[in-house]
Amino acid sequence: MRSLLGRFSHLGLRWRLVGWVAALSLLCLAIAFVAVYRGTGTQVRHEIDGEIAGDASEFTHSLIQSDPRSSAQAATDAARYVRGQPFSGSSTLLFAVIPGAGTSTNVPELFGDQPPDDGETVAEQRQENRQAARLLRIGEGYSTLALPDVGDLRLFKRTVRLAGLGKHSGVVVGVGEPLVAVVRAQRGVARAFILAGALALLGALLGAWLIGTRMSRPLRRMAAVAARVDAGDLAPRIHDEGRAGETRVLADAFNHMLDRLTEAFAAQRAFAADASHELRTPLTVIRGQIEVLATQRHPPEEEVRRVESLVQAEIARISRLVDDLLLLAKAEQPQFLRTEAIEVPTFVRELWRTTTMLADRRFELQGVAEGTLTADPDRLAQALRNLLANAIQHTAEDTGLVLLRVRPAPVGRIRFVVADDGPGIPPDQRRRVFDRFHRTDSARDRASGGTGLGLAIVDAIAIAHGGRVSVSESPFGGAQVELELPHFSAGGQTHRTPASVSSAADL
Ligand SMILES: Nc1ncnc2c1ncn2[C@@H]1O[C@H](COP(=O)(O)OP(=O)(O)OP(=O)(O)O)[C@@H](O)[C@H]1O
Ligand SMILES: [Mg+2]
Repeated sequence: MRSLLGRFSHLGLRWRLVGWVAALSLLCLAIAFVAVYRGTGTQVRHEIDGEIAGDASEFTHSLIQSDPRSSAQAATDAARYVRGQPFSGSSTLLFAVIPGAGTSTNVPELFGDQPPDDGETVAEQRQENRQAARLLRIGEGYSTLALPDVGDLRLFKRTVRLAGLGKHSGVVVGVGEPLVAVVRAQRGVARAFILAGALALLGALLGAWLIGTRMSRPLRRMAAVAARVDAGDLAPRIHDEGRAGETRVLADAFNHMLDRLTEAFAAQRAFAADASHELRTPLTVIRGQIEVLATQRHPPEEEVRRVESLVQAEIARISRLVDDLLLLAKAEQPQFLRTEAIEVPTFVRELWRTTTMLADRRFELQGVAEGTLTADPDRLAQALRNLLANAIQHTAEDTGLVLLRVRPAPVGRIRFVVADDGPGIPPDQRRRVFDRFHRTDSARDRASGGTGLGLAIVDAIAIAHGGRVSVSESPFGGAQVELELPHFSAGGQTHRTPASVSSAADL
């Protein structure tokens, strides 16, 4: 059974639908057949019961009306009545058992011992006679008997007291009718059911097959498209799958997924090209310098020093680039973060101290939210250092303003805001600066040293923490980057550091 079901589940949608419809139709037909078959039998039997009860009443009435004075006269009256109602096929068996005068009936062969019929043995006939004798023995009311040569017979018996025969002797009146009508009606029902059922089943199967074909068509088309995609062709899309419904939704989702895949592959290709380009540039410089050195038989000491420091700088650039690429690759893995509870003021002040040592700017640390943040301290420090490095890089030496503000945000979040008074980021670039290797036109020269991965790393760190990062214009005309992270629980008043520059406007 299980292997049959297993084989069935491997069939296509169409054939499975046809199979289920066939099974359900057969089940419904079988239930309906049993109900109608039995109902018909019960109804016809009720009708027969009504008829034989009516015939018994008539028979009784005629006996009472003839008012016999003796048993013999009663027998004569009964015989006259029953002779007028011959028993054949579906018509009625009538009998009256009159005390002292025997049985008057329209089927005498059912009463008393009969000789064997043609082809019957004596034993068989004796058996039949015994069964017939049950007609007389059986109690009053309705009963069903199997009788020889008649089949199933429905019988109704009652006792009637005739005034002329004395108070104590009753005449037993019996009326019977063969149940062939029930069998015939039930056979008719069975025949009609087989014919109608077969036609209905055929119709249902055909309908199921057509519906299955129609329903599975988009899926087959999708499978064909998926096969082409699997073979490396990302161009095909699924069209014309109706205006609504699940298949439309599925087709849209499928097309959307292919669009995303195409974009992802293109981005991956661009990323690989950018990465190789960024790696190739310092390698070219290193090779060029070494070649220059190699052409000289005895290069001067200072020339060797110059090449050495240049090569060192390019190697440092390569290794920073490789570290950044590795970090971005790791950012998509679950074990990227090692979170712990961070005391925000201590953390921010330490970070601020080390950053402000790196350059000469007007550094300003505004409000620092008191509280604890659950985050990875190394990654958070890296993200903030990237933002501060950008601000330092794009502001004027000594006079440029670099500002950090840390404030609580609604529903357990914290916002780190880094602002400067540099040239800012044009609005149309504000989303793209988070793309890997993206640099604005003004920052494209290699002298600035950037590879365009800093903000992509900040974005990856924000997303890994369940937060977000965005760029806008600072109140000082420069860039303002906001890094918002969840899992902050405030633990006191906002702290104002003595390092704050009072002239800077509040953000
Ligand atoms: N504070 C800022 N002011 C103006 N432009 C900025 C600022 N921060 C970022 N940008 C622009 O966004 C681009 C992307 O910044 P990102 O930090 O990702 O790369 P990068 O600084 O060029 O290189 P990296 O950070 O990898 O050394 C920069 O090249 C620059 O054009
Ligand atoms: Mg940067």
